[in-house]
Amino acid sequence: MSHLFSPTSVGNVQLSNRIVIAPMCEYSAQDGCANDWHMIHLGHLALSGAALMFTEATAVEPDGRISPGDLGLWSDETEAALGRVVAAVRRYSPIKLGIQLGHAGRKASSAEPWNGGQLVPPSEGGWQGWAPSAIAHKASEPPPHALDEAGLARVRQAFVDSARRAIRLGFDAIELHAAHGYLLHQFLSPIANQRQDAYGGSLENRMRFPLEVFQAVREVVPASMALGVRVSATDWVEGGWDLEQTIVFAGQLKERGCEFIDVSSGGVSSQQQIPVAPNYQVPFAAEIKRQVGMPTITVGLITEAQQAEDILAQGQADMVALARGILYDPRWPWHAAAQLGGQVAAPHQYWRSQPREFKNLFGETHFGQR
Ligand SMILES: Cc1cc2nc3c(=O)[nH]c(=O)nc-3n(C[C@H](O)[C@H](O)[C@H](O)COP(=O)(O)O)c2cc1C
Repeated sequence: MSHLFSPTSVGNVQLSNRIVIAPMCEYSAQDGCANDWHMIHLGHLALSGAALMFTEATAVEPDGRISPGDLGLWSDETEAALGRVVAAVRRYSPIKLGIQLGHAGRKASSAEPWNGGQLVPPSEGGWQGWAPSAIAHKASEPPPHALDEAGLARVRQAFVDSARRAIRLGFDAIELHAAHGYLLHQFLSPIANQRQDAYGGSLENRMRFPLEVFQAVREVVPASMALGVRVSATDWVEGGWDLEQTIVFAGQLKERGCEFIDVSSGGVSSQQQIPVAPNYQVPFAAEIKRQVGMPTITVGLITEAQQAEDILAQGQADMVALARGILYDPRWPWHAAAQLGGQVAAPHQYWRSQPREFKNLFGETHFGQR
């Protein structure tokens, strides 16, 4: 039996295979509200046969959006808008749904990537970000506000409030975004965090706020859902956040009831030098899995079925996440199942597409109106 198509679980959530759809910002929401684009985007990926799909980074407060088009979950309106998409996906697909909750910190108020991605200052209609320290991501950018005690309490509470909304919406999993140079990663990294108080300096102090946020969210998330964290395992900058610190952080998360870790890298510094190549982040996941022993997701330039199968067969990770590869080929899991002799859930409406040579491709499914 193929490793990729063997079942697993995160916390109490059962997954039919090891394929995860990574969070992908769409920059297409209005005032944080999901719309028909999200219905189409998440809707079509929900038919892919992957076991678990994450929403894009979803902001816990309006100032925590990367761009004005980010999804949010901070109000009844944003909750209702996302609820419409979740209900439609649930009606037609057995895919497990995760939400990535995040705060952009000093990388907030940016233009959409197709409009250049640059920071938009308040003078041009943007807003000022919030961060551990008043240090801009790039020297040319206006600095963010440094969060004071009241600001820290506000953001911590915003994560909890959004988590409560995600619970109400019936998500199966929550992933806290502590990667890619956004707020929680900014606290971890000495590059962005130069605070002099209990939240900066030593590793213990830099981990304090992300761990407080995790713990506060942990207290409200029921055991029926899985709660995990996405980390950047390194800043790819000398003197920055690195694998050794990530392993300590992951251990602390595990002690506090973290049920999975999703291992990415980079994003906090424009000085980063990333040796991008297939599997380039897999060794980080493998080491975290070996030393911490939490269900581990690896991600980053995994594009081939055999490549994914080998990662799992070698025990380097428990799940494989895809972003660009599954945008390019939304039936990637079907093709992988055909190649590796696995089975995928497919909607009855599509069963006639099963190629003659792959007779058992479509297994028993739970598709159909629920
Ligand atoms: C369009 C797009 C949007 C993304 N948005 C997010 C996001 O919201 N949150 C996140 O953690 N990563 C985000 N990423 C990063 C992916 O989740 C993934 O880690 C990265 O693309 C590497 O995987 P890949 O090589 O399979 O694309 C995004 C990537 C793409 C291509």
